[in-house]
Amino acid sequence: MMTQRQAFARWQEDPSVFWLDAAAAISWLRAPSIACDTTQSPSGRWFVDGQLNACYNAVDRHIEADRGEQAALIHVSAMTGSERHHSYRELRDEVAKLAGALQKLGVTAGDRVVIYMPMVSEAVFAMLACARLGAIHSVVFGGFAAPELAARIDDAQPRLILAASCGLEPGRIVDYHALLVRALQLAKHQPQHCIVLQRDQSPARLRPGVDLDWQDAVRDAPQVPPVPVAATAPLYILYTSGTTGKPKGVVRDTGSYLVALAWSMQHIYATAAGETFWAASDIGWVVGHSYIVYGPLVQGCTTLLYEGKPVGTPDAGAYWRIIERYRVATLFTAPTAIRAIKREDPRGQHMQANKLQSLRALFLAGERADPDTVRWASEALGVPVIDHWWQTETGWPMVANGLGFEALPIKAGSPTLPVPGFDIAVLDAESRVLGAHQQGSLAVRLPLPPGCLPTLWNNDEGFRSAYLREHPGYYSTGDGGYLDEDGYVFVMGRIDDVINVAGHRLSTGELEQALAGHPAVAECAVIGIADELKGTVPIGLVVLKAGVTVSPQDISRELVARVRDEVGPVASFQRCHVVARLPKTRSGKVLRATMRAIADERPYDVPATIEDPAALEEIRQVLSRTVSR
Ligand code: COA
Ligand code: AMP
Repeated sequence: MMTQRQAFARWQEDPSVFWLDAAAAISWLRAPSIACDTTQSPSGRWFVDGQLNACYNAVDRHIEADRGEQAALIHVSAMTGSERHHSYRELRDEVAKLAGALQKLGVTAGDRVVIYMPMVSEAVFAMLACARLGAIHSVVFGGFAAPELAARIDDAQPRLILAASCGLEPGRIVDYHALLVRALQLAKHQPQHCIVLQRDQSPARLRPGVDLDWQDAVRDAPQVPPVPVAATAPLYILYTSGTTGKPKGVVRDTGSYLVALAWSMQHIYATAAGETFWAASDIGWVVGHSYIVYGPLVQGCTTLLYEGKPVGTPDAGAYWRIIERYRVATLFTAPTAIRAIKREDPRGQHMQANKLQSLRALFLAGERADPDTVRWASEALGVPVIDHWWQTETGWPMVANGLGFEALPIKAGSPTLPVPGFDIAVLDAESRVLGAHQQGSLAVRLPLPPGCLPTLWNNDEGFRSAYLREHPGYYSTGDGGYLDEDGYVFVMGRIDDVINVAGHRLSTGELEQALAGHPAVAECAVIGIADELKGTVPIGLVVLKAGVTVSPQDISRELVARVRDEVGPVASFQRCHVVARLPKTRSGKVLRATMRAIADERPYDVPATIEDPAALEEIRQVLSRTVSR
């Protein structure tokens, strides 16, 4: 068996040959002859002369390869106690019909379609139907509030929106349709129509002329074949939180994405056609795009779509029952989910109660995997627990202990070695490459490999300034860390204003914007503080305008409600403190990094330029009370 270092060396020797070889795993209508065209702006494009269709690769080709009757997609709902199986043939029929319905409504290649849906089979049909037509989907996570949805609608300018009437969360029904209606009241751009999937738990009151019932829309629609698109045609836009309040539209090219995913399914996840792959995430996140939908389907696996939680729906055994029932070979989730299970079932009794022989590995990503959680899971499950590091922008893992290679020695706290294609360097502020054990910014030498974002939607300049400008010749990941003497990567966390809350990525700038919009707030800061379950949770620090007479407690309550309303429940924003002032430099810059260091109980220097040391002391006291609570 090859080692990952050997694969990396082979890639370094000739990246073009490496990736053109990897491209053979994909069915092309015109196979590419060029790997990366580095002359194309902003940072190169992959497989520029290739032509293909993503839906054909994910669905139709498996029917032609005699997998038509194999389950392609299984929807398991812990919320309704139901399951639905879709064979590759059935999936093709559903998707081709929905694509026909979209086409009848005028959707053509390059049009955008926003998908605002919970974890139901139709959400996957919707993504694949867009791909079938060469339309660009943009899935918006259901835990975001209406203004967040509106911002994405205005940026993507969709011709259509596909939504469900409701989503099901423990103890409550989320009225997706009401959120959509409110978002459209806020948005400048209006789609031609919204197609609404009516769920029995809470059907929507459809707006005449605008909303179309999903079933009516597909009833007489013709099944349409896959439309050939250029490898560089965008497959989707996925918005993610950046350092500003405005979400960034990560663009994903069709051809290079599928090549990268196919390579990863084989070498990182080592899951073959016919096996069951389960990414317990949400289609609203990159993990859902890459490893609920496109990765496993392109590989010919059975993929699971799970509507439920790791605990409480109804208990901490939910994951293990699913693994036994559907003979899951590979599980992928966020460390938070394992922490939640461990908290409820520390002795792993639910695991023991189920037959988990099918499970070969558990992959963790989305946030730092703390060594305790990794150790607990590997002892309880008896399979490799693989921490791997990546982000929405890259679309697939940058650093991972690939299961398809000879096993690597594990070092606690490290996702191990870079994946071929990702030449990782640690840089200082002057872009000098740092040596082993020296902490700095984690960056990737350009060009980025296939699968990574080629740009931001309609915003090449934003792409350059957010990722390429800080360190010329490199892509800045936004994470800090170091390499050790063996080249193992240690990721220490974000060095910008992004926080990971239960594996969900949020921008503190976005939360600050919501707080700042309150009429009583003069200034504010949001920082992430450690949380045993969610890894990090945000906390707000606000200074009130002079003359505000409302009590700090009432203001805090209002602000918590406001963030839920403006950003969404997913922010888990539950604590907001009124303070006399925020610590600043004399030039007026709020000392966020210093506050973060205090919250993390890390050493920090009080800047010589501090305006008022008493302000820092107040924050220290507030944070020490909050953290120790
Ligand atoms: N639609 C609407 N609301 C949603 C939602 C969705 N798709 N997903 C989450 N929410 C809401 C939840 O209902 C909750 O609302 P509440 O404040 O009314 O309770 C809030 O957003 C926070 O949700 P969540 O982060 O799921 O926290 P939780 O406290 O309900 O559950 C865990 C805690 C650990 C069980 C949960 O965070 C979890 O399963 N994490 C795994 C994360 C994951 O898969 N990340 C994907 C990246 S790999
Ligand atoms: P997202 O774009 O939502 O996938 O979030 C990406 C961010 O999550 C990264 O930039 C990291 O900060 C964090 N992250 C993801 N995986 C890991 C990991 N294995 N270890 C540490 N941090 C991680």
